[in-house]
Amino acid sequence: MAITIRQVGPCFAGEVDGIDMRKPMTPDDVAAIHAGMDRYAVLVFRNQDITDAQQLAFTESLGKIEHAIGTSLRAAKDYRLPTTFADVSNLDKNDAPFAREDRRRLFAIGNRLWHSDSSFKVVPAKYSLLHAVAIPTKGGNTQFADMRAAYDALDEETKAEVQDLVCEHSQMYSRGLVGFSDFTDEERERFKPVRQCMVRTHPVTGRKSLYLSSHAGRIVGWPIAEAQIFLRDLIEHATQREFVYTHKWQLGDLVMWDNRQTMHRARPFPADQRRDMRRTTLAGDGPTAVQVEAQAA
Ligand SMILES: [Fe+2]
Repeated sequence: MAITIRQVGPCFAGEVDGIDMRKPMTPDDVAAIHAGMDRYAVLVFRNQDITDAQQLAFTESLGKIEHAIGTSLRAAKDYRLPTTFADVSNLDKNDAPFAREDRRRLFAIGNRLWHSDSSFKVVPAKYSLLHAVAIPTKGGNTQFADMRAAYDALDEETKAEVQDLVCEHSQMYSRGLVGFSDFTDEERERFKPVRQCMVRTHPVTGRKSLYLSSHAGRIVGWPIAEAQIFLRDLIEHATQREFVYTHKWQLGDLVMWDNRQTMHRARPFPADQRRDMRRTTLAGDGPTAVQVEAQAA
């Protein structure tokens, strides 16, 4: 069956028909998916009744995966999933929801801020693939913002201003925005900032996009307050309704997005309900900026 993609978002996001992730992908399938990602940046695959192994195999058919090691407050001995998956659930290793005050839950609440996955890593993520295994009875949507459209809508003066800016990204900056700052020395070392450019150019389409994330807390060479306000203004600009697609999850959905061209955020849901979302991630091609002094902040 040939792949078809129809647009579902206001300005981007495509829903894909003709893919069954329980089966191996053909080279034509892989090419069509990459072409779809280049065009839409977010692709929705409904009714994918797949195992973790099938999700991993599908992901690996598209490229090299990024492992999730040391990026949350879960201790390695308490991982619910292997490191080939980012555990984006609210569940402990016994599949029970975290208590409301649980530090791991409160840290993960930072994912409700607009962000790009792994922008806090020297080599940030390319695609994320999120599979819905259990969803709450209400809430828990994921929203996506098209950072290409956001860039295009900047005035020329702002485009020139952002062109060569470099930001410092850390999970400590994003968590700081929600009042979470009691990091241990070990966590401060693990979450130390990395540098990312603010404008990215897509390697295939040549389109520019704003590379923003709530993990960005500094702009190199700028006073902190001015940088934080500018970043806040840019995120506000980039997440206007016309640039946003809201995904309402159904069981079995797999949504894939390009972190180079989009931001996303999770929306709230009842704390006592299970939201089991499993993410595989494709690694990026390399750093976006030289890492000089990035470790000093
Ligand atoms: Fe995320």
